[in-house]
Amino acid sequence: MESGSCFRPRILVTLLFLLSLYCTSVRAGPVGVCYGRNGDNLPTPLQAVASLRAKGITKVRIFDADASVLQAFADSGIAVSITVSNLDLTGIALDQGVSDAWVLNNVLPYVPATSISSIAVGTEVMMTNAGNLSSFLVPAMRNIFTSLKTNNLDSAIQVVSPNSMTVLSKSYPPSAGTFDPAIVNTVVIPMLSFLQQTRSPFMLNSYPYYAYVNDPKGVPLEYALFTSTVGVIDSNNQLHYTNLFDAQVDAVYAAMDALNFSDINIVVAETGWPSKGDSTENAASVKNAQTYNQNLVNELVRDQSGTPRKPGQVMEAYIFSLYNENQKADPESERNFGILYADGTEVYTLNFYGGADGGFQVQNRTWCVARNDASNSSLRIAIDYACGEGRANCDAIQEGGACYEPNTYVNHASYAFNDYFQKSNMDPRACNFSGTANLTQRDPSYGNCVFYSKLPSSGYLQSPQAYYGFTAMLALVFLLLFRG
Ligand SMILES: *[C@@H]1O[C@H](CO)[C@@H](O)[C@H](O)[C@H]1NC(C)=O
Ligand SMILES: *[C@@H]1O[C@H](CO)[C@@H](O)[C@H](O)[C@H]1NC(C)=O
Ligand SMILES: *[C@@H]1O[C@H](CO)[C@@H](O)[C@H](O)[C@H]1NC(C)=O
Ligand SMILES: *[C@@H]1O[C@H](CO)[C@@H](O)[C@H](O)[C@H]1NC(C)=O
Ligand SMILES: *[C@@H]1O[C@H](CO)[C@@H](O)[C@H](O)[C@H]1NC(C)=O
Ligand SMILES: *[C@@H]1O[C@H](CO)[C@@H](O)[C@H](O)[C@H]1NC(C)=O
Repeated sequence: MESGSCFRPRILVTLLFLLSLYCTSVRAGPVGVCYGRNGDNLPTPLQAVASLRAKGITKVRIFDADASVLQAFADSGIAVSITVSNLDLTGIALDQGVSDAWVLNNVLPYVPATSISSIAVGTEVMMTNAGNLSSFLVPAMRNIFTSLKTNNLDSAIQVVSPNSMTVLSKSYPPSAGTFDPAIVNTVVIPMLSFLQQTRSPFMLNSYPYYAYVNDPKGVPLEYALFTSTVGVIDSNNQLHYTNLFDAQVDAVYAAMDALNFSDINIVVAETGWPSKGDSTENAASVKNAQTYNQNLVNELVRDQSGTPRKPGQVMEAYIFSLYNENQKADPESERNFGILYADGTEVYTLNFYGGADGGFQVQNRTWCVARNDASNSSLRIAIDYACGEGRANCDAIQEGGACYEPNTYVNHASYAFNDYFQKSNMDPRACNFSGTANLTQRDPSYGNCVFYSKLPSSGYLQSPQAYYGFTAMLALVFLLLFRG
């Protein structure tokens, strides 16, 4: 083969172009971080960008539209959601010109170098009656949308507004979720109509921490931390809730359904857990903060299981917050929501690709197989679970599949266990199956039957998205080379 035939300039240019697209496009994952700057000792915005990139975080929310911050995010591969202050809301609602000026000053100078994904108009305004602020909310959102449309930015930038759980007058059980009747006609329905028309999400600030703190007798701590082994059954529809985060989100979905707005997605605009509190704030600890946030990432990034009401629907959330912020008001917990200290070091390890609690990462290729001493009856139950509720792909062990023979419980269970384990990002807790499973570093593949392992053989753990994306990219490159 002539080497020249492979590397004609046009093909090379195409390849480089495709590779550069792959490397630079902003592909936001499900979990972002809120970057609050209420501190007098924080790293510079450029240092914040470096910390976010090091953790693989692809989207942030900021609580203003600060010029130095927006400049720092230019060409960073991180999408930014910016915020209109509540103080600017009334003026923007009353005058399209004021809205146009806001977009002119706070958006146009930075796009497209900085990827601005959305504009949050106000913060938790629905329940704010002071100065009739809530009545200006939706008019302000509409005016900002019009300003974006004038600049052809309405499809690139969404217009949203974060809400607290207090907009619901009832949230338990989740299926009974109801918006506060006092605001339904004045602000809820107008906002939902706007979000529906513009295909934008309902932004929810969800803090199981505060639900626990306000009712420690009624809310089990494990239920708030995603570690409950029993959970709660919704008596109206028998849906099983294993954590309060899902229950809060589903209560809002139910409230929207009750008003016949069933096609609006929820994005969690803030959620988190403090790592430290004052002497009365017992639940605020490094261990609880790490447990909450890691389990949240695992559910959103690794499992992508959706909520019981919206199974399988990818959900997005922003963790509050990047740094501990020393200028926030009491109590102590308010100043300790950061995943990083003000000097930029970690308060605790948080694996944003979704791993086990405590940032566990396997170093070597590992498989999960059935123990050879497990009884057939327990293996049969475990296979049913893995291939059913566990959503393992069991096609290969159906009759005619590459791994059907030998047709034994041990073989079929091994295949199903391993698929489930790999999909769980090789979390060792996902290789148990009531004690019938066993980890191994010996590849169980045989003949045409391949037991896949998420880790490439080099042993470098990447995010699955990056791994599959890169594999697809390589396939494209080869296709083009051989066609050339
Ligand atoms: C709020 O709205 C009510 C009814 O429209 C009006 O009477 C009142 O003056 C308004 N208050 C303020 C502070 O704008
Ligand atoms: C929602 O739609 C159903 C069926 O079309 C209707 O019966 C019900 O009154 C509607 N509810 C509201 C709040 O509009
Ligand atoms: C990974 O494999 C290497 C080489 O086989 C071995 O030395 C090392 O102990 C293994 N690490 C773990 C965590 O099993
Ligand atoms: C479990 O796996 C280890 C390592 O692969 C192996 O030595 C052991 O025999 C296995 N135990 C059973 C009961 O299958
Ligand atoms: C378990 O099932 C296998 C076939 O999958 C069979 O060969 C074996 O005899 C069974 N073992 C027991 C103890 O029944
Ligand atoms: C595995 O499952 C058994 C039985 O359900 C349980 O007793 C044991 O604690 C589990 N082991 C781990 C490491 O989770």
